[in-house]
Formats: sequence, structure tokens, C-alpha cells
Amino acid sequence: MNTFLEQIELLADEKDGIAALSNISAALKLHDSELNWAGFYIVRNDDLVLGPFQGKPACTHIPFANGVCGRCFSEKKAVLVEDVSQFRGHIACDSASRSELCVPVVISGRVYALIDLDSDQVSHFHEEDKKEMLQAAEIISTAWQHYSWNI
Ligand code: SME
Repeated sequence: MNTFLEQIELLADEKDGIAALSNISAALKLHDSELNWAGFYIVRNDDLVLGPFQGKPACTHIPFANGVCGRCFSEKKAVLVEDVSQFRGHIACDSASRSELCVPVVISGRVYALIDLDSDQVSHFHEEDKKEMLQAAEIISTAWQHYSWNI
């Protein structure tokens, strides 16, 4: 496991889910200097709700079927967008965002949250980033179950 994922594992080892996700969002942002936004959307009954994040203030509610986050939620898989201007329905929370990576946190086949990363550079994210974020999501999923986070 690389140092970044080890750090995520340490930060996820926390009984309070909000505290853990807050620290993890800081670690995600610091991990990559070309990110302008890094954080979480939490799956609620009616929509996706803004969770702990680092970056400019963002959309607080996203309908399940909308945007990059909605695609990630609906398909239960990572969505890598090289150029957000080419993604129909992209929701621009920060007008500086040019590319995006969204990864689901899944527990027993159900999506509980999304990790969302935005970069102000086109084509910033690659397959290795996707793989690494899927591993981070897996670590978060394991901690969520272990501590029964009530987020
Ligand atoms: N761009 C996202 C919205 C969330 S912000 O990027 C923080 C989307 O299209 O769903």
C-alpha cells in the first residue's frame, strides 16, 4: 500500500464518521496540488447531500440522476471526466473545474457516499488515480462498517 493510502487508513480509523471524512477530505486535497475541490457527497433518502470537503462552497443537494455525481451514484462505479465541458449535465459548483473524478463508497452493494475530486486542469485524472481512489473508497467502506458510522 502506498503512503497516501496508509494515511487514509489512519484517518479512517476514527469512531466519528464526520470527523473521519473531514480529515480525509483534507488529505485528498493536500495529496494533489492540482485539485481545486475534494470532498464527499452523502447519499440521503431524497438526494446527494454535500458532506465534508475542501475547496469553494459547493452545491448542497444533487438529484440522484444529475451531474457527474448522479452518474457515479446510479452506475455504482467510478466516473472519470477528462473535460467537464464535454459531459452533458455537468454541474459546475466551481467554474474553475475542468476535469473530475467521482468514486462511490459502497457497502453491501449499496452506495453510501461519493468521493468527488475536481481539477482546474483538463485531462488531469488518469486510470491510476481512479484505481487509487477506488482503494481509498474501499478503506472508507471498511471503516464505515467497522465503526457503524451514523452520518
Ligand atoms: N460537478 C459535480 C457537482 C459537484 S462539484 O463538482 C463539487 C457534478 O457534476 O455532479
